[in-house]
Amino acid sequence: MVTVAIANQKGGVGKTTTAIHLADGLARMGKKTLLVDLDAQGNASSIFSDPPPREESVHELFRSRTPAQELARKTRNENLSLLPSVLELAEVETLLAGHVDGFFRLQEGLKYPDGQAPDFIIMDCPPNLGLLTLNAFIASDYCILPILASRFSLDGIRTMLDTLETVHHRFSRELKILGALMTMYNDRTAISGAVLEPVQELISVFKTRISRSVQVEEAHLMRQTLFEYQPKGKIAQEYEAMIQEVLDGIKEG
Ligand SMILES: Nc1ncnc2c1ncn2[C@@H]1O[C@H](COP(=O)(O)OP(=O)(O)O)[C@@H](O)[C@H]1O
Ligand SMILES: [Mg+2]
Repeated sequence: MVTVAIANQKGGVGKTTTAIHLADGLARMGKKTLLVDLDAQGNASSIFSDPPPREESVHELFRSRTPAQELARKTRNENLSLLPSVLELAEVETLLAGHVDGFFRLQEGLKYPDGQAPDFIIMDCPPNLGLLTLNAFIASDYCILPILASRFSLDGIRTMLDTLETVHHRFSRELKILGALMTMYNDRTAISGAVLEPVQELISVFKTRISRSVQVEEAHLMRQTLFEYQPKGKIAQEYEAMIQEVLDGIKEG
């Protein structure tokens, strides 16, 4: 079992889109995959499922320590299961405050009996570095940072790296950073290239960039991934190339 957190404390940088496509794409390659939606907005969940009752969502894992295995639901992709989010997930931050195991509930909830674990668990994090994101970091082997090609991405990356460093020291959990993924990339804007170099000094960057395309919004409106909506299209191909880089990165250790 390999666990991957998709994180960036900024909103609107392509976390959810990346989580959806990584999870759906891996499942299409025959890997048993679980997508965990940790954002109360539930955008990732909405692509694969109607909103669940609270007791059948990831909220319940945090509230009552119910294992993911009991809560995960099937999706139309037979190798992909979903641990959906609900709006009430936002309450979890206060619910867990003061519980000594508050940082570890996700890690505990993602334990499986021998032979029953999925091959991959992909976690879509909320746009902050709160308790849910920390739970994801503590439960993850790897992380991916979607970023926009903008000057302000640098500060965000530094904050993330500091947080990962803290997780390493406080919780002895050393996540490997698979890389920063440039999303909504536009070759024609000069800023995209100008931002790349200083980013590369801080963190490895995926060779694949995800282009900006209206197809993404269109697919989301249809509640589909690009692998369904436009499987031969540019974005589907880019996410396929990105998944290959993820698999290579994991193989290297
Ligand atoms: N490659 C892309 N091209 C165009 N729009 C995109 C692309 N990726 C994401 N979007 C859109 O940008 C918005 C933010 O993306 P999202 O994945 O939800 O980011 P986050 O989870 O970081 O908030 C969404 O409306 C999404 O549909
Ligand atoms: Mg999101």
